[in-house]
Amino acid sequence: MNRDQNEERRYTIRLCTRHEEFQSCIELQRSVWQFTDLDIIPLRAFVINLHSGGMTHGAFDEEGQLIGFSHALAAFDERRRPFYYSHMLAVEPSWRDMGVGLSLKLEQRETALKTKVPLIRWTFDPLQSRNANLNIRKLGVVIREYKVNYYGNSSTSALHRGLDTDRLFVEWWVGSERVNDILAGKKSERGEAVGTVKIPWDIEKVKALDNEQARSRQLATRAGFLEELARGNYCAGFETTPGLESRYLFYPDRHEEESERA
Ligand SMILES: CC(C)(COP(=O)(O)OP(=O)(O)OC[C@H]1O[C@@H](n2cnc3c(N)ncnc32)[C@H](O)[C@@H]1OP(=O)(O)O)[C@@H](O)C(=O)NCCC(=O)NCCS
Repeated sequence: MNRDQNEERRYTIRLCTRHEEFQSCIELQRSVWQFTDLDIIPLRAFVINLHSGGMTHGAFDEEGQLIGFSHALAAFDERRRPFYYSHMLAVEPSWRDMGVGLSLKLEQRETALKTKVPLIRWTFDPLQSRNANLNIRKLGVVIREYKVNYYGNSSTSALHRGLDTDRLFVEWWVGSERVNDILAGKKSERGEAVGTVKIPWDIEKVKALDNEQARSRQLATRAGFLEELARGNYCAGFETTPGLESRYLFYPDRHEEESERA
């Protein structure tokens, strides 16, 4: 598929199947997360995943260089129903904010629709406003779970340094009316939000200036999410005031998305 978001910057997305492509995914993991080797998904895990129902998609520039990738595993929920667990999404910094991340997720959705898997799940750091914007506002995920220090404090990534690895668990009901509406550019009507949780527009800036401040934003975000979820609300909206702050929006949870797979 060719997506020319920007005339000079064309890229193509395809399923990765070759060792060279997986090697490029390894290099991109190194540069984006600055992981040490222990935290890198190795080549053999990519190969195994390809042969066990999972998928890795790569975005390539016109020279054939990998500029982004997504990686998802085949998984079962607690009732043995299949879903995809999307474990990684990365875009090379000079290609960000051009829709590459969105295109990679849409490719995963195509596969899920084709294979009749209704749900893709993944996690992201609640303090990352760009990720929240992509996931909630552009893709239409909903959030019903907050994981405190999900990976513990052993990560070697520069993006994780100094803070607990709290994560939001997203549900992307790929064939739902809500997701279809959002992808078609229609507003998904939920009425008035009953709760909000604020985060900084750019947490990396806060971390660079004052890690204690970043830590206190993390604790406030954690407390806010846990309180809203305990009230029976779920997160299904996100709005931003660019350069200043962003807000997660909460609504009473009527389990509409889940009913689609009953
Ligand atoms: C998260 C990531 C994959 C997004 O990729 P991307 O190609 O930049 O994503 P897109 O361009 O499709 O969407 C980004 C959106 O966020 C917006 N955005 C940028 N900075 C933002 C911010 N601070 N707050 C809110 N939105 C922001 C962009 O404007 C764009 O929205 P728009 O198209 O409506 O303008 C990329 O930033 C990345 O590789 N990050 C590091 C690794 C990571 O965190 N991976 C995900 C978790 S595993």
